[in-house]
Amino acid sequence: MESSLRSRRLPAIIEAVAALRTHYCGELREEHVGQIVTIAGWVNRRRDHGGLTFIDLRDREGISQTVFNPEVSAEAHSIAVELRNEYVIKVKGRVALRPPGTENKNLSTGYVELIADEVEILNRAKTPPFYINEEVEVEEPLRLKYRYLDLRRERMQRNMTLRHRVVKFMRDFLDAKGFIEIETPVLIKSTPEGARDYLVPSRIHEGKFYALPQSPQQLKQLLMVAGYDKYFQIARCFRDEDPRADRQPEFTQLDLEMSFVDEDDILNLTEELFTSLVETVTPQFKIVKPFPRLSYEDVMEKYGSDKPDLRFGLHLADLSDVFASTEFSVFRSVLGDGGKVKGLTAPDCAGYSRSQLAELTEFVRSRGAKGLVTMALDGAPGDALTGITLDDVRSIVAKFLTVDQIVEIANRLGAKRGDLLLIVADKPKVVDVVLSNLRSEMGLRLGLVDPNLLAFAFIQDYPLFELNDEGHWDSMHHPFTAPRGEDIPLLDTNPGKVRARHYDFVCNGSELSSGSIRIHNRELQEKVFQTLGYTKEETEERFGHLLEAFECGAPPHGGIAPGIDRLLMLLAGEENIREVIAFPKTQGAVDLMLDSPSPVSPDQLRELRLKLSED
Ligand code: AMO
Ligand code: AMP
Repeated sequence: MESSLRSRRLPAIIEAVAALRTHYCGELREEHVGQIVTIAGWVNRRRDHGGLTFIDLRDREGISQTVFNPEVSAEAHSIAVELRNEYVIKVKGRVALRPPGTENKNLSTGYVELIADEVEILNRAKTPPFYINEEVEVEEPLRLKYRYLDLRRERMQRNMTLRHRVVKFMRDFLDAKGFIEIETPVLIKSTPEGARDYLVPSRIHEGKFYALPQSPQQLKQLLMVAGYDKYFQIARCFRDEDPRADRQPEFTQLDLEMSFVDEDDILNLTEELFTSLVETVTPQFKIVKPFPRLSYEDVMEKYGSDKPDLRFGLHLADLSDVFASTEFSVFRSVLGDGGKVKGLTAPDCAGYSRSQLAELTEFVRSRGAKGLVTMALDGAPGDALTGITLDDVRSIVAKFLTVDQIVEIANRLGAKRGDLLLIVADKPKVVDVVLSNLRSEMGLRLGLVDPNLLAFAFIQDYPLFELNDEGHWDSMHHPFTAPRGEDIPLLDTNPGKVRARHYDFVCNGSELSSGSIRIHNRELQEKVFQTLGYTKEETEERFGHLLEAFECGAPPHGGIAPGIDRLLMLLAGEENIREVIAFPKTQGAVDLMLDSPSPVSPDQLRELRLKLSED
């Protein structure tokens, strides 16, 4: 029950919660020795020995040892021997130093114990479905069904407390910067962020629906039109998309927006917020200051991803031109079809066994590659390439390459002798996805990832649009993002070349936030909707309110929206977003505790004039 959160001194709030107790269990220290106190909480463990009964009593602040001695109180002792784990009890007694040699240095209350005079059972508890007092693996469905018990466990309490402190820090920081918090409604009209909407049928307006916000994007822009410069909100967002390890159907953003700003204003504010947040709330992490600001094109080239893990190197490099002139038919045909060849270096891995190489090939295949070319450069690890011959290169492609070509490939990938080169050819998107996955995997395997480092960075210079599978333009971010001024003429001639005033904020391979400078002018916004394929009528019907607002004195504005759940995953060191949310949904979007979604009564459907189709 120890944690840095718990070992901090407690605030004086105990006075306000002391109807049944005088102190938190986790609060007792040497300074309380001799005092008569009352604590209340859950039985963490009972031990009987030497005629004494020891009850470890737990609350959110920690554990105190209470001692029941029949010679002190026969009545209290007789109750104590009946106590079971998770019973809720209240104990009154005198704080004493533990006898020498029995101290527990791992517990902040470990130098003292409570010699119990009185005990009262406030409530009994069934045997819980899993251990609450031990950090044992419990299958997730069971944890989620009994989330209220799971949340009682130390790890979850630590995560929830951390979440509170992070959000509190954000609020205080922004307040000090002159921001004001404004709530926006949850029953709104569709606001596109690239996912499906959750819809809510209206009882009063037959056949009509509200949509839950995918984000407060349009509302915060309208607040800028209204003059509420420097807005923020801890905003709940709803997106009907397939949940993933870092995705939930409902999640929370720190949504913010400012007027009369450019990109640097937003990025500088974000950098200051996150720097001071980490330094204050989770100082155990190292951060690299200033946060790098990288271009989309560069990170795609070097990392194959626009959310690179910058805690380690292992850069990718393009080798297409080298392989274009070789006879290796597998790669030539990929290149002939508009594909590319890229690779990366696994340092000091030239000695990988056949089965290790087969495992890597399987890894890339499972990520969508057709295969993996490996090239082991023999020699003492770290030796320069000078004097390398074809005999030093073990690869099925060696026979198609000259020594000069091998040296060129190795140089591009920053390789030395003793290294292993990993090369993939495919459609550009596939190559990047596969190699960015392989890069992360090798970073972990080779121990290059420092778990105490938070490598924040901003990614900029995104294209405004990307082509979707149907050959139409989609927004890279959302349709309200402004194009660069000098690229506006390209909207008519070459939309794919228009650069956006959009930035992402990433950390350790995770996208933490997106944001942009917005369009604030009707004509330009209409033009973007038109490029996205909306008809004039659709535009008017869906976004008429925003377009009209732009005609009523809309200031230039921009903002960003860090995802709080994803940030918490990083700060709490959790692999899954559900660990930092009190009541999350499963991967299948189900709330196992409330059993939701669930059928509704025929009466409710009738009232909403909804009929479920038979097929
Ligand atoms: P975007 O859609 O990129 O931008 O979302 C911003 C951040 O929200 C988090 N996030 C999620 N977290 C958990 N589960 C999800 N399903 C999920 N979806 C998104 C991510 C993401 O980076 N309105 C814009 C922001 C703006 O332009 O100001 C927006 O919502 O951390
Ligand atoms: P194949 O001709 O399919 O037997 O492949 C010969 C070698 O090239 C094998 O080692 C494959 O793993 C590898 N390979 C095949 N296709 C690709 C590709 N698209 N990218 C990288 N390596 C490949």
